[in-house]
Amino acid sequence: MPVNIAVVGSYNVGLTIQLDRMPALGETLLGKDYIEGPGGKGSNQAVAASRLGANVHFISSVGEDHHGDDAFSLWTKEGIYHHVKRDDQNHTGVGMILLFAEGDNAILVAPGANNALSRNDLDALEDTIASCQILLVQLEILTDTVLHAIKLAKKHGLTVVLNPAPVQPLPTEIFPMIDVLTPNETEAKTLIGENSNADISTESLAQKLLELGTGAVVVTQGKAGAMIATQNNIDYVKAPQVTTVDPTGAGDAFNGALVVALAEGKTLKEAAQWACYGGAHCATALEVIPGLATRNQLETLIERHPYE
Ligand code: RIB
Repeated sequence: MPVNIAVVGSYNVGLTIQLDRMPALGETLLGKDYIEGPGGKGSNQAVAASRLGANVHFISSVGEDHHGDDAFSLWTKEGIYHHVKRDDQNHTGVGMILLFAEGDNAILVAPGANNALSRNDLDALEDTIASCQILLVQLEILTDTVLHAIKLAKKHGLTVVLNPAPVQPLPTEIFPMIDVLTPNETEAKTLIGENSNADISTESLAQKLLELGTGAVVVTQGKAGAMIATQNNIDYVKAPQVTTVDPTGAGDAFNGALVVALAEGKTLKEAAQWACYGGAHCATALEVIPGLATRNQLETLIERHPYE
């Protein structure tokens, strides 16, 4: 039986330009190739979970423009139950992605219609949320909407997974309602009020997030893998060493895989291990959607690079 996952979050069209270096302030720089494709952390995570076999209910908001039309085509093709409003006041969200030759990126988002997703929209979908086992949510929509989604999920006994990206300070009441928080190290620092240069160990970051009331913390560490922290234990899992073509969406692939594994009854460590492979698979392809693994593709990657 497929598991049921609710994803509440963003859709952005991704406008990717490949380039050699960051332009300076006031400079116009000639880039290389340009690619346009679907993105947004919410939608990417929904597609990732769906390709791994889950029934995904995706709740979002897009504009009345052709980018919004493209989003609907994507969700239909991917077999995702989409509960998405068309906002005639705002453009569909846009993510401008600068992709550097060494495999790094920088992303700038104009949220547009994502910020129109409201408490009322979620209330109208309460039964849909209640029918799922896990809620997966990110921070590319209004914090108020995120908080309300989490409250609805808790009311109906769902497990709540929050991927705090793009990171921003959160109200303290949110942490005790989160079962699994999945920051990277920079995001973890921001969540505890430290700046990104602060010299704090990953273990201490996780400990501080646990003290805020979060059930468990999975700190993603890019190519190194992830650290899993609960009140009683700290553990690590490694990611497979693959050639990075485009890291965009690797975190989304990780989160989509994590929730499918958790809903299927894997332990948090097992789920994080599997999710590292989902993230790595995504990084091997240009753009996000082509890199999101099917179950077969993920199993093949595990066969080629067995767990360490
Ligand atoms: O996580 C990657 C995503 O972040 C991109 O798809 C971009 O649209 C931004 O939302």
